[in-house]
Amino acid sequence: MKLKFTLTITLVCLLLFMSMKPQPSGFISKIFNKAEQQYLYLSAEADVLNKFPRSMKQDKLVGTNEWDWTGGFFPGSLWYIYHQTANEQIKEEAIKWTEKLEKAKDLDQHHDIGFVMYCSYGNAIKYLNDPEKVKAYKDIIIHSSNTALKRYDEQVGLIKSWNQKKSWDNKTVWKYPVIIDNMMNLEMLCYTSKITGDPKYKKVAISHANKTMKNHFRTDYSTYHVVDYDEHGNVLHQQTNQGYSDNSTWARGQAWAIYGFTMMYRETKDPAYLKTAQQAAKFYIQHASLAKDKIPNWDFNAFENGYTSHVDFTGRNISPAPRDASAAAIVASALVELSGFSEAKDKKAFLNFAEKSLKSLSSPAYFAAYKANAGFLLKHSVGSLPHNSEVDVPLTYADYYYLEALTRLKELK
Ligand code: GLY
Repeated sequence: MKLKFTLTITLVCLLLFMSMKPQPSGFISKIFNKAEQQYLYLSAEADVLNKFPRSMKQDKLVGTNEWDWTGGFFPGSLWYIYHQTANEQIKEEAIKWTEKLEKAKDLDQHHDIGFVMYCSYGNAIKYLNDPEKVKAYKDIIIHSSNTALKRYDEQVGLIKSWNQKKSWDNKTVWKYPVIIDNMMNLEMLCYTSKITGDPKYKKVAISHANKTMKNHFRTDYSTYHVVDYDEHGNVLHQQTNQGYSDNSTWARGQAWAIYGFTMMYRETKDPAYLKTAQQAAKFYIQHASLAKDKIPNWDFNAFENGYTSHVDFTGRNISPAPRDASAAAIVASALVELSGFSEAKDKKAFLNFAEKSLKSLSSPAYFAAYKANAGFLLKHSVGSLPHNSEVDVPLTYADYYYLEALTRLKELK
């Protein structure tokens, strides 16, 4: 009798506790079910276009070819959805769009090969249970890493992001520009050292990360977007390309920094990388300009006193400042991982922030209805506001990092 009473009380308490606590994995599964439907629709649209989905213009899907920096995100998102739903049709689409990228293993005209090949083939290797294909995909990753090394100059110690080009204000010629985004290409190099046993790829990644740590950060751990070098690796310029001004902090640039150094800490366990990731994250999550929903403005300092843009924004309809859901998604994914490397207060703060951002992104304010938003999941990202390009639109990489963040959160729970 007493035992029955105790069991009943325990059960009631448990039910009460469960109804009070948010159910993260339930919420995540619901999102993946919606993503599964939306991405089947997007795949059909991409077939019609015969291009990799990138964004939307006048309500129509905009696609790209394999030489752009964004081709890997669509197959990568399909892999995340397949991993959660085991939908065979999604798997077939993921294989098809991954394999369509094979030519890009020779992409050497800019630094983005890591994004392109690792988000697609890298995820395929993780999630596809087909040893023959996986072996072929690993060879493609090794080939891609050898291509990436072609842009590394030993004297400079960094991978060159773009070939020599004029800065956007036409006042500077960048000789050896390196952008903070380039940190994201290093994961493929670390992986290639693991599967080949050859340390040369990871050595390049470490050299790149060390010089980025030295020259891309200001004392408050905000970041420059572009650092330009001479042939000996001396800094020539610290500027912006997609941010408001040279001394401002472009939200997605800061997101790449947080993600990149978290990933490099995972790969090396170098405490300097951990400190950099944590401080860069604190700059971001504690910033006064952040709205309650935690989705940042496209730049943390746009139109503030002390920040002068080289762009004339007159006549542009940019008030209130457009938000960048892509930056929020990248940061959410990074913070779920970074919380696992952090202690006490930081651990909690990083995870709380990631959960809050993901809740906002999953609300109707950001998450699109079925077949709307040209088939993408998230609304309200910014490609490059100074170039007046892709402002307040869906972007394929916002979806990719959002799905990655949810996957990481689910695995953490
Ligand atoms: N890597 C280009 C961008 O973040 O827009």
